[in-house]
Amino acid sequence: MTLTCWEKISLIALAVIGLRILLRVSVLVWKKLIGPSFGFGIDLRTQGTWAVVTGATSGIGKAYVDQFASKGLDVVLIARSASKLEEVAAEIKQRYGVDVRTVEADLTEGQAVYAKIAKATEDLELAVVVNNAGASYEHPDLFTNLSEESVATILQLNVAAVTGISRALLPQMFRRKKGVLINIGSALAVMPAPYLAVYAASKAYIVKLSYDLAAEAEPNGVTVQCIIPGLVATRMSKIKKPTWMAPTAEKFVKSSLKTIGLESCTTGYPPHFLLTGFVHTLRCICEKGALWLISRTMCTIRNRALSKKNREANVLKKESPLTAK
Ligand SMILES: NC(=O)c1ccc[n+]([C@@H]2O[C@H](COP(=O)([O-])OP(=O)(O)OC[C@H]3O[C@@H](n4cnc5c(N)ncnc54)[C@H](OP(=O)(O)O)[C@@H]3O)[C@@H](O)[C@H]2O)c1
Repeated sequence: MTLTCWEKISLIALAVIGLRILLRVSVLVWKKLIGPSFGFGIDLRTQGTWAVVTGATSGIGKAYVDQFASKGLDVVLIARSASKLEEVAAEIKQRYGVDVRTVEADLTEGQAVYAKIAKATEDLELAVVVNNAGASYEHPDLFTNLSEESVATILQLNVAAVTGISRALLPQMFRRKKGVLINIGSALAVMPAPYLAVYAASKAYIVKLSYDLAAEAEPNGVTVQCIIPGLVATRMSKIKKPTWMAPTAEKFVKSSLKTIGLESCTTGYPPHFLLTGFVHTLRCICEKGALWLISRTMCTIRNRALSKKNREANVLKKESPLTAK
């Protein structure tokens, strides 16, 4: 049987498309299933002896601290509250027998704080630094309703501090040609996020910064990873009961640590990958529909939060009519 010219071209085109799909699926299976399951990621103990975590006293940051210490890494804890730092330091020392340093710092305070962190860690061999501390809205809201203070905190913590701390700590990793920098973004950076616009935009900055830093760091032996989680049951998300889609911080961090060295930007947790995949597909089918659905969800959360606030204010008024004025 002889094929016409057009048939040959069509066959070649089909073969190329088929090969590309096969290659993509194989890479996905490697990155999402085989690599993490069989421990092909980076073993942090080969990178140094210390881990630095910002926002280390609660939620995702505390879970990173637990995981690092359980692997035998010494840890530097950074947060604002001295009492919480002491409490976590004592718990980590007692449970894992590793060295712990604490740095009491409000990361919204700028350059002086980044210098303080650089000084506190200059004699340490840093295996991993996690830029985890972040700020969000109290609840979804209109951009025009945000206070100046709230916008400033989000930008200083999510944008300036992540940049400043990376700039302060990366040089020593570059010199040693070893180390891992993990920046915590959010899935909202890659999805529509009306009513959380400033938070989502600040996290999109982290994604972009990490992507370009990763390319600069690789020839210097350093790995930069950006984690973009969906919901995790922590103080910030106000989710008290963990679910499959909103896991505990411990479950989330355990899963995301398996991806270091395999993925430079990842949700870190397979169900969150499905969620972002679902939203992307929805957007491909109908962008307006996806936006409508997300806006509606955000408005529902906002209305519920406002009703709760009103109820609490009314109770306060009833309890102490004078002070409530
Ligand atoms: N939870 C989620 O669903 C979710 C989803 C996507 C992304 N994320 C991201 O994950 C990161 C951690 O969130 P989380 O939910 O674990 O938060 P969290 O439970 O509220 O913990 C926040 C930590 O950051 C510290 N912190 C807050 N403000 C700080 C400041 N100005 N300077 C220094 N430390 C500060 C807090 O300690 P002090 O109060 O003592 O300072 C605490 O240790 C954030 O970047 C967040 O945007 C969270």
